[in-house]
Amino acid sequence: MREFILYARKAVTSSNFSLNDLPGSGGRMDLVARCVCNALWISHDLRRDSCIHVVAYGAPNPPRVISFYGSLLRDVTPDERNIASWIKKVQKAKNLNPGIRVRKLSFQQLIAELASDGRFFYILHERGRDIREVLPALKEDSTFVLGDHLGLPAKEENFVTRFPHEKLSLGSTSYLASQCIAILNYELDRIAIAGRRRNAPVGI
Ligand SMILES: C[S@@+](CC[C@H](N)C(=O)[O-])C[C@H]1O[C@@H](n2cnc3c(N)ncnc32)[C@H](O)[C@@H]1O
Repeated sequence: MREFILYARKAVTSSNFSLNDLPGSGGRMDLVARCVCNALWISHDLRRDSCIHVVAYGAPNPPRVISFYGSLLRDVTPDERNIASWIKKVQKAKNLNPGIRVRKLSFQQLIAELASDGRFFYILHERGRDIREVLPALKEDSTFVLGDHLGLPAKEENFVTRFPHEKLSLGSTSYLASQCIAILNYELDRIAIAGRRRNAPVGI
C-alpha cells in the first residue's frame, strides 16, 4: 500500500466552512483537497493501492485524522470542490462513504499505529537525502510524511524519527505538498512499471 500523511495544521475540524472559500474558512482546505487528488487519482481512475491520511489541527475539534482509501472510495470526483464537500459531509455524519474514515486521533497516535503495523516512513524534507540517490531502491510500500504550507513541526518530525525512517528530498526547490505527492507517485509508478517489465515472461 502506498500511503501518504499530510499534516494540515489549519484544516478546519468541523463541517462549518464554505465551499466558496476553501483557503480562508476551510483553513487551507484547498491545499488538502489538492493533496487528496494527487494522492489518489490518475486519468479516468483511482489508485486502488493508495491511501492518504489528512491530520487536521484547525479549530474547533482538533486533532482529527481524515483518511481516504482509493480501493473503497465511492462517488467522489477529483475536483477540489467535490473533495472538500466530502470532507465537510463526513465531518458532520460519519460512515457516508466506505472510502473515507474520520477519527479523533493525533499525528503521533497515527504514526505510532502505523509503526506498530511495521510501516517504513519517508519524511519529505528539502534537506533530506536526494531521491536520485535513493532510486530505484525507494520502497513503494511505505508511508510518506509531508508538511503543509508551513512545513512539518519539529516536534512531530522528531517523533517520526523514533521509528524506521529516512528523510527524503526532491531537490532544493521547495514545492507545494500536492506537487511533492505528484512527483512521488510519478517516480514510484516508474519503479513499479520497470519491476513488472523485469518480471514479465520472455519469448511470448
Ligand atoms: C510548501 S512545503 C513547506 C515549506 C515550509 N516553508 C517549510 O519550510 O517546511 C510543504 C511540504 O512539502 C514537502 N516538500 C516541499 N518541497 C520539498 C522538497 N524539495 N523535497 C522534499 N519535500 C519537500 C515538505 O514535506 C514540506 O513540509
